[in-house]
Amino acid sequence: MTRIAIYPGSFDPITHGHVDLIHRSLQFVDRLIVAVATNSSKTPMFTLEERLEMMGEVLQDEPRADVRSFGGLLADYARQSGASMVVRGLRAVSDFEYEFHMALINRQLHCVLENVFMVPAVHLNYLSSSLVREVARLGGDVSAFVPAAVLRAFNAKLKKSEM
Ligand code: PNS
Repeated sequence: MTRIAIYPGSFDPITHGHVDLIHRSLQFVDRLIVAVATNSSKTPMFTLEERLEMMGEVLQDEPRADVRSFGGLLADYARQSGASMVVRGLRAVSDFEYEFHMALINRQLHCVLENVFMVPAVHLNYLSSSLVREVARLGGDVSAFVPAAVLRAFNAKLKKSEM
């Protein structure tokens, strides 16, 4: 039996925290679909294409991690892709309520879907894409928080916005 899990998110952009969770998940699944939601209510800084490109580059040495995008409900996407698990990161108690509700709704919609909550490495526990975006926008150095491909994308985007 092939164990397929989905790691869904906005990934705006992917950070070292996401990458850490991906590596941890690949220890117990055969295939991990790292899935960017296209119909998020959030207005992203990076376009879908930019996010997919960055993620593809960051995960190029992980043949068992597939970068994809999906629209509509996560539960439907999980059903279509044959995934039996959803992986999400839990950094702090503040994440818990939202994640818990989302897990229960997804279970209601697709009852065989299991939710797996992963805890990132301690030194990455404070990281979030939104904080990283804010630091970058305000001219701070985000090189400790994101992979090189993302750093280049930040530099290009912020340079463009100065023009
Ligand atoms: O990285 P994020 O923004 O916390 O990810 C949230 C995401 C994309 C996982 C969530 O919004 C989602 O699953 N969206 C797909 C639509 C859906 O199924 N919504 C109902 C889930 S409660």
